[in-house]
Amino acid sequence: NKVVLAFSGGLDTSVILKWLQDTYQCEVVTFTADIGQGEEVEPARAKARQLGVKEIYIEDLREEFVRDFVFPMFRANAVYEGEYLLGTSIARPLIAKRQIEIAHETGASAVSHGATGKGNDQVRFELGYYALEPNIRVIAPWREWDLTSREKLLNYAEQHGIPVEMKKKGGSPYSMDANLLHISYEGRMLEDPAQEPEESMWRWSVSPERASDEAEYLDLEFRQGDIVALNGEDLSPATVLARLNQLGGKHGIGRLDLVENRYVGMKSRGCYETPGGTIMLRARRAIESITLDREVAHLKDELMPRYAELIYNGYWWSPERKMMQTMIDASQAHVNGWVRVKLYKGNVIVVGRDSRTDSLFDPHIATFEDDQGAYNQADAAGFIKLNALRMRIAANLENSR
Ligand code: ARG
Ligand code: SIN
Repeated sequence: NKVVLAFSGGLDTSVILKWLQDTYQCEVVTFTADIGQGEEVEPARAKARQLGVKEIYIEDLREEFVRDFVFPMFRANAVYEGEYLLGTSIARPLIAKRQIEIAHETGASAVSHGATGKGNDQVRFELGYYALEPNIRVIAPWREWDLTSREKLLNYAEQHGIPVEMKKKGGSPYSMDANLLHISYEGRMLEDPAQEPEESMWRWSVSPERASDEAEYLDLEFRQGDIVALNGEDLSPATVLARLNQLGGKHGIGRLDLVENRYVGMKSRGCYETPGGTIMLRARRAIESITLDREVAHLKDELMPRYAELIYNGYWWSPERKMMQTMIDASQAHVNGWVRVKLYKGNVIVVGRDSRTDSLFDPHIATFEDDQGAYNQADAAGFIKLNALRMRIAANLENSR
């Protein structure tokens, strides 16, 4: 009778750990992953041990996260509701997958997470669990227990010898979630959408006002739609994203303040910093602009909101997401080349792009100078005339009334 708990080592999941042991008399297996949240994961070991856990999994999943989740999602240029780069949404499917694998390895029959009953994360975790192990038992303490306030949670912690100095990650009052793609802030002062967040909330970026007065140029090299090198240096997926975060943060890039529609039905206000992702999205659109066929690009853009919604709502492991992914990945076969961007006070400005092997941009055809017959302008007259035909017929009819 074992449960695999997604365990951050923070106060909430420590209380959950204890609560699971007491309420279900079960043995808890903890799983803590480094996905680039910027906090040490090793301390989770001592905390789990202190609470009597025997099987403790601590893993560095940064490369897998970026290579198999973030990059594939970016190939779609996925953005939710026009703004949100899905930083939290894309991390949940990976955590769910590892929890199920660990359940299989340890013979556990249940899994548990620390997401509340009001949010998206519970849906993302649990859709993942069920898709990967149809017979898994799911325990979501926040939907079951009576620790309905911060105070009750703290009391429970004190009564059960859980150190409460780790009250809140880094002493921030916000509900935060971070990984290599983004950091998010929700709750507290942000619950009034009319109110500007305080400057001290932001952790990854300087404000555009305080960003460097010097612009900085970056050369990004793409292979099949993914960034493989930065300023001439080959880098692994996780390293690329970490570097871009650092560069973007320094130039005030990637802040977002948004009211979004949660899958469960409510509107919620969140703030996000996605510096590297913001640079990557801009640059990706630039490389696609020269390497993708027009209709392929437009079809991708039509399907993109649907794909983004699938990921936001937690359907990463669904057949429809996999079907779309196959198509999106196929579209990237010729997305090779480089893009140059300029970072300046919150802006990512594309200043150049080229592809030695795959550019569809034809200067001989596009030129405003003499094209030596590459393009016959007379052809355009018939093209326009036939496209106008139905409108001329309708206009004639209108005029005869
Ligand atoms: N609202 C964002 C989303 O649904 C961020 C969620 C943050 N999650 C958290 N546990 N703090 O993707
Ligand atoms: C939570 O409710 O656990 C965080 C917010 C969300 O999942 O949307």
